[in-house]
Amino acid sequence: MKEKIFIEGGKKLSGSIPIAGAKNSCLTLMPLSLLSDQALSLNNVPLLSDVHTMKELLESLGCEASFHNLKKTIKIKLLREGLFLADYNIVKKMRASILVLGPLLTRFGQGIVALPGGCAIGARPVDMHLMALEALGARFSIDKGYVKGMVAGSLKGCKIKFPFVSVGATANTIMAAVLAKGTTELVNAAREPEIIDLCKCLKSMGCEIEGEGENTIIIEGVTNLRETTHEVVMDRIELGTYIIAAAISDGEIKLTGGNIALLEAFINKLHEVGVEVTQASDHLRVKRLKSNVINCTNIVTEPFPGFPTDLQAQMMALLSIANGVSNIEEKIFENRFMHVPELIRMGANIKIDGRKAIISGVDQLKGAPVQATDLRASVSMVLAGLVANGNTVIDKIHHIDRGYENIIEKLTACGAVIKRL
Ligand code: EPZ
Repeated sequence: MKEKIFIEGGKKLSGSIPIAGAKNSCLTLMPLSLLSDQALSLNNVPLLSDVHTMKELLESLGCEASFHNLKKTIKIKLLREGLFLADYNIVKKMRASILVLGPLLTRFGQGIVALPGGCAIGARPVDMHLMALEALGARFSIDKGYVKGMVAGSLKGCKIKFPFVSVGATANTIMAAVLAKGTTELVNAAREPEIIDLCKCLKSMGCEIEGEGENTIIIEGVTNLRETTHEVVMDRIELGTYIIAAAISDGEIKLTGGNIALLEAFINKLHEVGVEVTQASDHLRVKRLKSNVINCTNIVTEPFPGFPTDLQAQMMALLSIANGVSNIEEKIFENRFMHVPELIRMGANIKIDGRKAIISGVDQLKGAPVQATDLRASVSMVLAGLVANGNTVIDKIHHIDRGYENIIEKLTACGAVIKRL
């Protein structure tokens, strides 16, 4: 039965929401278990379907993984070597599966991963992953939808310059370089907090890395790694999403575990539109400066530390009820406006011109049946439903469970009228 989400709009949210560990860090950290026979323990793991899919993939590659729901921990240990195939049935559910390629190649000299295929937000090729791994000495062939990598001998460190920033390619190359012979220098590397978190975990395993968080990262290959326990960094995209939930509903929410430092560009834009975000010791507090005022603004999505593409759809929901005309330019993905036709169904006034969206604020959104297309687009429907006049029903909501832990419970606890049908 296709699950749907029902929302009755118009409730001003108030209360507190705990922020979970970052999906995009956890999915990058879990493949580190392939790099050695030592156990990898992760704390603050988000309870998401993608985490279970990654667990399934690692088990198919010979790992034993025990997930503890209540303690939100996972312990993974590679028990059985000699399995190198990431099957299409798993990869097609989750693009992040490509992140096992670097570890497999650097540890075993071979890896076969199904090409992920596109997804709702674009073609999302992996050419830069392969370019960087080839520079380290891997050789690839593409056959029947699988990319097959081989290494004669071991990977050798070198200087790699990414033509443009890729979070996944940066992560994959770091994971390959840590066991390569010699020094690897990554230029134009991704600076995302999830990359910093990955390097922090690798250093606790005995790797030698410097420059993470900057444009250039230097990795010195090592020979053996040790067991480690690592706390997954807070999810800045979940945090930004609930900040907008408070702003759009004209409520006031306390976000425990929130860290304003990971969202500087986003928070600056919220101050511009009239939303106040203040950092206390272990939480953030969010509310509008003036009750019935959201101002328009202009947004360009960029690699970190710029405005995150993963918060573009959510910001568009907020700007659709702003005073005046806002412009959003999506510079990371070629097709990340799938939420626009759905917002228009709810009464938003948005025009698309290539990678630009022009949003003319309206007084009121109206509840309507809408559908979710990708993870962040689906949550922007929830945000619009919170403020819309009337009821909204969102179809195809499996996307939401991939990226938002207990979203119904978290919003209900703040007074939202939201439930699964
Ligand atoms: C990561 O995806 C995130 N996913 C995405 O979050 C996020 O939107 C993206 O980074 C950008 O911040 C995970 O971390 C699991 P990229 P990734 O490589 O690594 C193109 C979410 O909603 N590109 O930085 O796949 C690519 O098509 C998800 O949580 C190539 O052309 O993103 C895109 O246009 C969505 N060739 C741009 O670069 C490549 O080899 C940036 O992609 C790789 C990427």
